[in-house]
Amino acid sequence: MGCGFIGGAHSRALRALHRAGQADAPVVAVCDVDGERAQEFARANPGALATTDAGAAMDEAEAVWICTPTATHRALLEEALGRGLAVYCEKPLATNLADAAAMAQAVMDAGVPHQVGLVLRASSVLQEVARLVGPAGALGRTMTAILRDDQFFPIQGHYGSTWRADVSVAGGGTLLEHSVHDLDLLCWLLGPVDAVMARTANFAGHPGVEDLAVATLSHVSGAASSLVSVWHEIMSRPSTRRLEVFCERGYVWLDDEQAGPVHVERGDGADVIETTGEEDRFLARLGIPTAWRGPLRLYLAADGDFLASVASGRPPRPGFDDALVAHELADAAYRSAATGGQPAAIALS
Ligand SMILES: NC(=O)c1ccc[n+]([C@@H]2O[C@H](COP(=O)([O-])OP(=O)(O)OC[C@H]3O[C@@H](n4cnc5c(N)ncnc54)[C@H](O)[C@@H]3O)[C@@H](O)[C@H]2O)c1
Repeated sequence: MGCGFIGGAHSRALRALHRAGQADAPVVAVCDVDGERAQEFARANPGALATTDAGAAMDEAEAVWICTPTATHRALLEEALGRGLAVYCEKPLATNLADAAAMAQAVMDAGVPHQVGLVLRASSVLQEVARLVGPAGALGRTMTAILRDDQFFPIQGHYGSTWRADVSVAGGGTLLEHSVHDLDLLCWLLGPVDAVMARTANFAGHPGVEDLAVATLSHVSGAASSLVSVWHEIMSRPSTRRLEVFCERGYVWLDDEQAGPVHVERGDGADVIETTGEEDRFLARLGIPTAWRGPLRLYLAADGDFLASVASGRPPRPGFDDALVAHELADAAYRSAATGGQPAAIALS
């Protein structure tokens, strides 16, 4: 559902997995409100039905990828659940917390396999960081993380659409639309959060669409983390993250969350850890063009994992419940920003 930027990434990933014999999951239907876009995707997936009718596409399928602008996710999810399909829904789930909570409840009630597009979880680079800073790690307790996430305002360049400047479709700006990934990551690495303090600002001037968010997260463990999320006009910086994590006895950092490497500094030495060798060989074997290899890496891993989970009956991860936690953090950050940065509590379930 949705033959745009991220639908293209999933379509390429699914085709590659199918051709490589890694998943018995051909793309059988493609749907877009723009019929020409659907036709174009169908040409890339021979035999697939091209349609503007969501129900007709879903009638062909056993699993659906919802890759449309955020405000449309809930209605498409409801169509999918009515048919009992397994669902992969792009992040953010919805434009607001109430819809995200209703969607998380709906997938639970329907009992279908569900996964959300928080693809940083599929990064072998960040999985290595999680291993290093996790409770069993040799670096001691994790004290703090500093995450800077910057990209050019995503209504230009390789983005072929402008809905991210419209709050009624996107629900917010860089914090919800992009850094919902980062909120999920900080929770994953440092554990549950009980309060958020945040400031937001709007330089580009699209109403309700902040292009700067600075947040401090208070973790239950006693750690605190900070996030700087910015949409700028530097066209040479399409999307970049720098992560630094300090543990009691070690410093872990990276400048590229997709390709790595992971740098580790201890009191008695330093390591540079490469995690992507096997992925690179797989991408090369599949004949994926070099330009697509970086961005495709995470989608291949996430889609392959979703399909393997569905096939084996194991619950896919991250699920809508994981996404709901990130939505709660985004909501708290907006509530804090609305009060000029006062702490906003998270109700821990
Ligand atoms: N996980 C990630 O890393 C990631 C990256 C980019 C985008 N996203 C998310 O993916 C979603 C789509 O983003 P995008 O950049 O691909 O947008 P896009 O504008 O490039 O593509 C969206 C497509 O959906 C179509 N569409 C709109 N409403 C529809 C409907 N009701 N039914 C069928 N088709 C419809 C549009 O015509 C368009 O072709 C958003 O929620 C976005 O936040 C996630």
